[in-house]
Order: sequence, then C-alpha cells, then structure tokens
Amino acid sequence: MPVITNIEDLRVLAEKRVPRMFYDYADSGSWTEGTYRANESDFHKIKLRQRVAVNMENRTTATKMVGIDTKMPVCIAPVGLTGMQHADGEMHAAMAAKKFGIPFTLSTMSICSIEDIAAHTQAPFWFQLYMMRDRDAMARMIDRCKAAKVSAMVLTLDLQVIGQRHKDLKNGLTAPPRPTIANIINLMTKPRWCLGMAGTKRRTFGNLVGHVKAVTDMNSLASWTNEQFDPTLNWEDIAWVKKQWGGKLILKGIMDVEDAKLAVASGADAIVVSNHGGRQLDGAPSSIEALPAIVAAVGEQIEVWMDGGIRSGQDVLKAWALGAKGTMIGRAMVYGLGAMGEAGVTKALQMIHKELDVTMAFCGHTNIQNVDQNILLPGTFPTA
Ligand code: GLV
Repeated sequence: MPVITNIEDLRVLAEKRVPRMFYDYADSGSWTEGTYRANESDFHKIKLRQRVAVNMENRTTATKMVGIDTKMPVCIAPVGLTGMQHADGEMHAAMAAKKFGIPFTLSTMSICSIEDIAAHTQAPFWFQLYMMRDRDAMARMIDRCKAAKVSAMVLTLDLQVIGQRHKDLKNGLTAPPRPTIANIINLMTKPRWCLGMAGTKRRTFGNLVGHVKAVTDMNSLASWTNEQFDPTLNWEDIAWVKKQWGGKLILKGIMDVEDAKLAVASGADAIVVSNHGGRQLDGAPSSIEALPAIVAAVGEQIEVWMDGGIRSGQDVLKAWALGAKGTMIGRAMVYGLGAMGEAGVTKALQMIHKELDVTMAFCGHTNIQNVDQNILLPGTFPTA
C-alpha cells in the first residue's frame, strides 16, 4: 500500500482502482479541457506572504456556511455518479464528511438516493437540484428532501444543456456499464471495485429511476440531461424553487457579475462561483480568476463561495483570502473515494485541513476569520 501524503496520491490510486469510464467521467473537462486545467493552474500562480515570529499556537479554521458550522470553509460538492467510483459511494462520502465535521452535498445524479443518505448518516445533509421539465417530479423531489431533513438546497444553474466531454462519448458512459467486450476487459482489472458492486443493489440513478418519467436510456446521464433538464430555466423558475423549498438556497454556477447581482435579487442565501469544474463552458475563465470581481460586486450582500481546481488546503486558503466564504471540493473527494472508499475521503479531508492549517500559520495567522487578501503577494493574484 503506497504512503498517501497528498491528493495527487489518491488520484493515482483511484485511476488504478476505478473502471476507466467512471475515472474518466470525473477527471475530465469539456472540449479542449482548457478551463478544467486553468481551474487548477491559476491557483498555482498565486503566491503567499510568509510571516515569522508570530505566535502560531491554538489555531482554528472553523467557520459557518449559510449559518451551518463547519470545521473549515469546505463542503463536499455534488458529484454525479459518485456511487460508481466506489460501491455505495455517496453513503461513504457522507459518513466521512459527517465524522470530519463538514457538510456533504448529494447530487441529483447520484447513485444512492436521498432516502439512502438520510437512513445511513442520520445527519443533516445538503441536496443539489437540477431544474427538470417535469415540475411535478421536481416538487416531489423537493418534498423528499424535506422529509429527509435536508438542511440546504444547492440549485445548479449551469447544466441545462451539457458540455461535450469527449471521453464520456468515446467510453459509452452508462451506470451500470454495459457488458461490452471493452468494458468486461477493463472491469477484469478492477477486482476490488467489482467485489464492492457485487455487494450492493445501488447501481443506477437512485434519485431518478422510479421517480421521474422514463427517458430513452435510463442508465445514461446524457439521456437524462438531454431529455429531462429544462433548457428554458430562468429567474422565475428559480423563484418557484425557492418558494417550493422554503429553506436555505444556494445558487451554483455563477461566473458573471450581472448574474451575481440577479442572484442577490432572487433572495438566495449564497452563490457558488463555479464553471462546473471546467465540464461545461470550455473557454470560460477559471473560477479563482472570476471570484474577485463577483466578491467586489456582491460580497457584502450575499455569501460568495467558489469551486473548481481545489486540490489542497493552500487552494482553500487562497480562495478564502480572495473573499470566498466557503469552497466545494468534488474531485479531491472522488479521488479519495475511488482509492480507498470512506477512509480515502477521510484522508482527503484530513490532508486538506492540515495543509490549510499549517499554511495559515506560515502566513502569520491563528484564526481563519482574520485571514484576508493581505496574506497574498501583490501582483500574483487576480483582482476585480
Ligand atoms: C454533472 O453534474 C456533470 O458534470 O456530469
């Protein structure tokens, strides 16, 4: 067993253990993948100011996201097909998040259902919703969230049409995989994964199958999105979701100042500056580049969070320094899960927390609430 010391180690192990089509699904962007790469590489350009001879004892990274306590400004992002990275993946990730003390967000396109997570974690979790054409199904899904005591709703705004991901098309992505020769050969090299899957009945879209009217291919994410997601989504629909839900609402997928202002006007509780991990509009700026202008425009009126490219606690600290009151991690969680199940997610969270905590100390701070842009070297970070 290799010694795991960073998220990249988990990625390498996940790549070995997870069937090719599911590893590729998570670890890819749309078209040229330029935005996907920039999400990560733009963080590397930002330099930190080291301070010395400052008392570094008794540090805390604790904060709140939409009023909910979290051990660090991080929550688990909604990731479709998480239960294909590892058997019952969403349940394992939710357990790891609960034990660690950060919020977990379940995706609409998850394998484990809302009810599975409610039954297995007994802790409030968050749910990510896509606007679907079938409003009755939407209303029922929102009611299921209420029954499951979901404590915040994340409405994703940037996937009403799907950005082309070459690898998914080439791999013929479905959940479960179809028994083609290529898939069977690949699965034969993933015995741990196969054993896990043999032991669970959760192998397709648990929130949708049996709840939303049939699409042409029940097992294909592309079919669900193309046939069910509503391309007419507009701010009136968002007001409808807000009313129907009645609880904390987070709008995800905001990349433009004008949209951020409309989000404030909608009465949402938080926005997530996000390009969907570089999986939707390739050619959009990285999330960290888009963040400062949005914080400058609306940061006083609404909680601004970000996601995309976070692979270390240093990235979390940089995002916080640029005004993000929270971050979401998707791939870092997925790599941990694919590598080692719940223990891998826990490992990812521990490493991110440690990197965040120690970097904060190097920058001369003991409480994340006092950290601001002053920890960054002028001229190295994006500005409004
Ligand atoms: C779904 O959220 C995806 O990005 O595939």
